[in-house]
Amino acid sequence: KDPNYVKIVEVGPRDGLQNEKSVIPPEVKIDLINRLNKAGMTTIEAGSFVSPKWVPQMAATDKVITGMTRIPGSHYPVLVPNHKGLSNLLTLLSSHPSSPSSPPPPTDEIAVFTAATDAFSLANTNCTVSESLARLAPVVEQALKAGLRVRGYVSVVIHCPYTGRVKYEDVKSVTKSLLEMGCYEVSLGDTVGMGTPGSVKEMVETVVGADGRIPVEVVAGHFHDTFGAAVANVHTALSLGIRTIDSAVGGLGGCPYSPGATGNVATEDVIYSLKDSRYHTEGDLDKMVDIGYWISERLGRQNASRAGKAMLAQ
Ligand code: HMG
Ligand code: MG
Repeated sequence: KDPNYVKIVEVGPRDGLQNEKSVIPPEVKIDLINRLNKAGMTTIEAGSFVSPKWVPQMAATDKVITGMTRIPGSHYPVLVPNHKGLSNLLTLLSSHPSSPSSPPPPTDEIAVFTAATDAFSLANTNCTVSESLARLAPVVEQALKAGLRVRGYVSVVIHCPYTGRVKYEDVKSVTKSLLEMGCYEVSLGDTVGMGTPGSVKEMVETVVGADGRIPVEVVAGHFHDTFGAAVANVHTALSLGIRTIDSAVGGLGGCPYSPGATGNVATEDVIYSLKDSRYHTEGDLDKMVDIGYWISERLGRQNASRAGKAMLAQ
């Protein structure tokens, strides 16, 4: 494996859109995913099989993942919070049997999610952290048996909007539980976007601590940009050995259960910031900038990518 390769998980179609108030038609989401794929992104989070009462924007994820073009070698993970979400997904997948001549299945990967604090977990999934881990264990087991890859998320790894500064030892123990369940990777989410290079360093060093029980290779960084420190936090994570970064085209996003938090770090800004460094990544910067403008205009919002704005001005 190339030690300087930075894998980007493009979360725009899921994390980026889940908080939009007006319902975005599945056709627009499909168009977005197809454009991202054509721009060179190969891991694109496509939606969520969550309760439509909780997150109405993700309700038509079944239409999105069956309508988008699936390119062999690309992955289109979807979020699954419980048994019902997995069972809906498996029913859908069973009507798309794969054979060498058929297109790839709608997805081959799910992401399960929990948090470092009970308060956030209760707000996001109506159960405590330990209840959510107990709920997720059989879901992960069943998904693995069905041949799906499973990624894990831990939210509020730095700061919780309800209880403040988080204990990094708690982040570590939840990460460990998700890995023990069978997640191939755990993404550490600075949901509120209050992290700084200093706090991110302390948090990552605690999680992948000297005991070596959690190798840095199985950890990813997921930074929201509320305070403008997300690109710096990405580079802090890279300097500590993390090589997978979640980001959203146009800096889209916000979490419905994290009041005031803004979008994810913009994919364009991550790609730009890796130029002239020892790192390399995927995604064509010019094409990603175009997509950032296209989707921002479609949503009637400002493009939040700094690199996108600067490149337009040139
Ligand atoms: P609950 O209300 O306790 O669950 O919610 P319930 O079992 O009582 O179900 C309530 C209703 O939802 C029922 O319908 C269920 O059938 C239905 P009714 O009988 O009332 O008609 N339902 C479902 N429908 C479709 N798919 C399902 C499903 N489950 C139940 N899977 C629950 C518990 C977990 C369902 C709910 O809290 C939920 O869906 N939460 C999801 C919240 C979410 O998606 N948050 C955003 C993603 S996480 C995030 O953004 C953070 C991240 O980006 C990292 C970071 O930045 O930190 C990943
Ligand atoms: Mg997020």
